[in-house]
Amino acid sequence: MTDTRFQHRHLLGIQGLGPEEITTLLDIADGYVEQNRSVDKRKNLLRGRTVINLFFENSTRTRTSFELAGKRLGADVINMQAAGSSVQKGETLIDTAMTLNAMHLDVLVVRHPDSGAVKLLSEKVNCAVINGGDGSHEHPTQALLDALTIRRRKGRLSGLTVAICGDVLHSRVARSNIHLLNVMGAQVRLIGPRTLLPSGVERMGVEVFHDMRRGLEGVDVIMMLRIQNERMRGNFIPSIREYFHFFGLDQAKLALAKPDAVIMHPGPMNRGVEIDSDVADDVERSLIREQVEMGVAVRMACLDVLTRHLPNRDGAA
Ligand code: CP
Repeated sequence: MTDTRFQHRHLLGIQGLGPEEITTLLDIADGYVEQNRSVDKRKNLLRGRTVINLFFENSTRTRTSFELAGKRLGADVINMQAAGSSVQKGETLIDTAMTLNAMHLDVLVVRHPDSGAVKLLSEKVNCAVINGGDGSHEHPTQALLDALTIRRRKGRLSGLTVAICGDVLHSRVARSNIHLLNVMGAQVRLIGPRTLLPSGVERMGVEVFHDMRRGLEGVDVIMMLRIQNERMRGNFIPSIREYFHFFGLDQAKLALAKPDAVIMHPGPMNRGVEIDSDVADDVERSLIREQVEMGVAVRMACLDVLTRHLPNRDGAA
């Protein structure tokens, strides 16, 4: 049975999803949070199903949480990294996908350094495909877990002001979050140096600030982003020291946000570059650990909804 509230075959991005579809995924994920906190974490919803995590880039959180998510739903989960696969012998992305497709898998989770690679691959296989992050394009499950984390703390997304700070230019996390927060009725501010904000980004329905102090005034949520050195061609910042001075989150800058503003970071963090340890580890304000916990629940929800059309599924979360 297909969930009538979520009709997509793949999850390639947040762009194109409506508020009801996002709410459906968040509601289902909320249920899995409770399951994950219980002693018996395992369900047999996906017994006999196969999930393959195909990662062409490094990952700690996304790969591990998809593995846990699949196993907690009873699926067989296989992890493949480009480093240990025949990609190293010259096999193309498409040939790799066709090879896996011949093994009758049910869900393929893909992370790839090139924007658009996951969509291309989804057109070649029979199973559901989930984008685990493609280049600077999208990271949909990260935006969903961020939204679930915010919704659980603040009780809503609509009407909140969310500041996304740092290397927006190279960030798929920022792109997916902008789409999601806009669709769900939040106001988005982007804060960063001109070199790290895409030109014309205002067209995405956001406010842009190059002065972090002004941008943080009165915000409800602060999302810090990592400087993505691996995607940079050339120098985008004068020095780490100067970057931290102007765009690193510390207690002094945090004081400009609302008194109950929360701090988020998708990880991995570069302490002392974009965020001070004092604020990252602030148990009252930092939601960074909750984000990781919500990541497993959100990925369970995604595996759940994308397999509801398969035979012998009860369709219930
Ligand atoms: N946030 C995130 O995608 O982390 P990983 O690179 O560790 O998966």
